[in-house]
Amino acid sequence: MSSLTSSGQILVGSLVTADEALLEVHTSMLLANAITDHYLTRQKTYSFPKGNADVDRLTLQHQICCLRFGGLYPPEIETQVQALMEHPDFEILDVGCGSSAVWCAQMAQRFPKVKIVGLDLASPAQGFVQHDLTTGFPEKYKNRFGIIHCRLVCQQFPDGQMLVNSMAECLKSGSPLRLSDLSSRINPTLDGLLLLIDGGGNTYGQDGKLVTPFQYDAARSIAENLENPEGHSWHAAWYAHMGKVMMNPTYRQPPEMVNETSLEVIMAEKILIPCGWAGEGIDHGRELGELMLRNLEMVYQFSPMMLSKLDDIPDEVKTALVTKGFPELTVRKMYLHLWYVVAKKSD
Ligand SMILES: C[S@@+](CC[C@H](N)C(=O)[O-])C[C@H]1O[C@@H](n2cnc3c(N)ncnc32)[C@H](O)[C@@H]1O
Repeated sequence: MSSLTSSGQILVGSLVTADEALLEVHTSMLLANAITDHYLTRQKTYSFPKGNADVDRLTLQHQICCLRFGGLYPPEIETQVQALMEHPDFEILDVGCGSSAVWCAQMAQRFPKVKIVGLDLASPAQGFVQHDLTTGFPEKYKNRFGIIHCRLVCQQFPDGQMLVNSMAECLKSGSPLRLSDLSSRINPTLDGLLLLIDGGGNTYGQDGKLVTPFQYDAARSIAENLENPEGHSWHAAWYAHMGKVMMNPTYRQPPEMVNETSLEVIMAEKILIPCGWAGEGIDHGRELGELMLRNLEMVYQFSPMMLSKLDDIPDEVKTALVTKGFPELTVRKMYLHLWYVVAKKSD
């Protein structure tokens, strides 16, 4: 069941009972705009600008992820996901669902009978759970969810490992196998799945090797620095400095964090995304490259405000990172990367 309300919201499925109502919905609700005011509280664990610009950026980012990952989740786990979603006890939790909550909404359209909980510090709309994850998860979430999706949240979170450990606790494990699930080879006992997607922080070149970023040298004059005689990458330097502002210093790559838990990793892929070009051997490469360029353009636009928080480089260099970094994307073939980790909870 889905319908469009007078305010333009798409409702999929129906609301659950009032006592579940910590504003969770049976399936989910998607709204596209009017989400401005809630965001002021997020400053500590989310450093991007809030409001409609965030909705647009996250929606674009979602498009990029779906194109690059082959859908709402990797096709390799389609059988496991279908088996979990057919089971009446399995719910989905989207951790840090974002102001667009678009993954939740699209999963709700795909699995209209499944209960989907979207949780964020700033609740995107009525029907979502507003909760600060730095205080842990609500007690009633323990051992509850068949699928937990967490995309691009850990990097900025004060303690990513704590978040991953808590998500592991909230996954359901070891439900009895039904005959129809026998085709599920990777997850034969219908164990809960964690889908963890997060960034890496590095820039790669056309050859798939790390690109050397421009490095400010305090022993040289500013003019000499700006000449960048080694020809190192301004964009890679911009990205690295943005990482210094946004990324928690204790952040570790997703496979490392998951390996610290009792979960079993069944897939850990480092996925390159072309920025401003088609990449090599990448499905939908051209479209991805263009979308990624648009996405980066948005981030470049607000980056001066974020770079201003750094005190280890002069202002002229900060400006050069922005003014020389973005144009470089159309002349130098580069990728950024994301990790896609799938892990299961066995008994
Ligand atoms: C980059 S966005 C990703 C949104 C969404 N997962 C997606 O992929 O579109 C990170 C989200 O994490 C949420 N977040 C950050 N700190 C949080 C916290 N302490 N508790 C709950 N959510 C938090 C932010 O509000 C933001 O919506």
